[in-house]
Amino acid sequence: MLKACVIGMGHIGNNHARSYISSDKAELAAVCDIRLDRAKAASEKYGVPYYLDAQQMLDEIKPDIVSVSTGGFEYSSDHYQPTLQALRAGADVICEKPICNDLRKGKEMVDTAKALGRRFALDLNHRFTPAARAADKWQRDGRIGELLFVNMELWIGRFEPKFDTEYYHFKALNPHSVDIMRHYGGDIEEVYTFAKKATGRDIWSVQTTNVKFKNGAIGTLTSSYDIGRGHPMERCEVAGVNGRFVFEDMWRQATLYPAESLMKEVYTNPVFGGERFKEFFDTFEDRIHHFVDEVAAGVAPEDIDGSGADGLEASRVIHAMIQSHKTGRPVKVADITE
Ligand SMILES: NC(=O)c1ccc[n+]([C@@H]2O[C@H](COP(=O)([O-])OP(=O)(O)OC[C@H]3O[C@@H](n4cnc5c(N)ncnc54)[C@H](O)[C@@H]3O)[C@@H](O)[C@H]2O)c1
Repeated sequence: MLKACVIGMGHIGNNHARSYISSDKAELAAVCDIRLDRAKAASEKYGVPYYLDAQQMLDEIKPDIVSVSTGGFEYSSDHYQPTLQALRAGADVICEKPICNDLRKGKEMVDTAKALGRRFALDLNHRFTPAARAADKWQRDGRIGELLFVNMELWIGRFEPKFDTEYYHFKALNPHSVDIMRHYGGDIEEVYTFAKKATGRDIWSVQTTNVKFKNGAIGTLTSSYDIGRGHPMERCEVAGVNGRFVFEDMWRQATLYPAESLMKEVYTNPVFGGERFKEFFDTFEDRIHHFVDEVAAGVAPEDIDGSGADGLEASRVIHAMIQSHKTGRPVKVADITE
């Protein structure tokens, strides 16, 4: 069994811990939080030792895998230090999104993993579902063909934590949506963004971006913190010359509309049996089990699905969107270094 530790025991760190407990290839060995109440609560819940200092845990437990589920400024500044500590201690690491609010530090995290030959993944959990895999297969089998557009929408209700900056919604929410667009559309070359502050908001709470992919396909990304999430909250439509699919609400449904036929194909999350997803937690479990499987199978660091490099590139696209919004002009993603 692979030994796993979790650093940062908020709600999300607990999702990581539960995912190691349900894994058949890994076991939860210890948890860490700088907050005694959180570290202790998790230790009691899962029956593993707790630490208040990540380096001490790494030195004593010597884990094979470490989850970094800290938060911080713009929900990500605290990822940097424990990720570097865990990589240097010899572990493969899965870090929460966004990789880091500071792109230069995010790049250092990716470069360090590469230099040390460690596997480094990001928790881009929204596409680790059977519905997303059905869509992957349609694309692999040529049912979409030459790509035309990728249109993505994501909103999560009237979300009101403490907002550090005007661009919190851009940075904290959209690693998922940009990653899904890149997953189906490839690298993004250029973006042109408009945004609005809904009444009563002091952040840019809704935005839409025109996207040009390197392969010539085009698309849009619309996201918001203002629209109810009891209703469908996520939709990705991918169109090519051979057909079009719509991937909805992570695990709920994926529908293929073949160009040559009036019959559609639908994957629907099953009520009984199959790979049934019941709640958002299941996306964490699927994603973390996938990483554990990759580590157990000895997958090369450069072949990790949902890698640190993917997470860094998603954040680079978001920084380009912010730059575009600030300047009122299209921005090339390659021009963004910080
Ligand atoms: N993948 C998803 O769908 C998803 C959803 C929500 C949030 N997130 C991400 O998950 C992360 C955690 O979110 P949360 O709501 O649980 O945050 P949180 O702030 O409630 O918890 C983070 C915890 O990390 C601890 N911490 C910070 N630095 C530490 C360090 N060096 N060593 C040990 N502990 C440390 C804090 O004390 C805190 O208890 C964020 O990065 C967020 O962006 C991901």
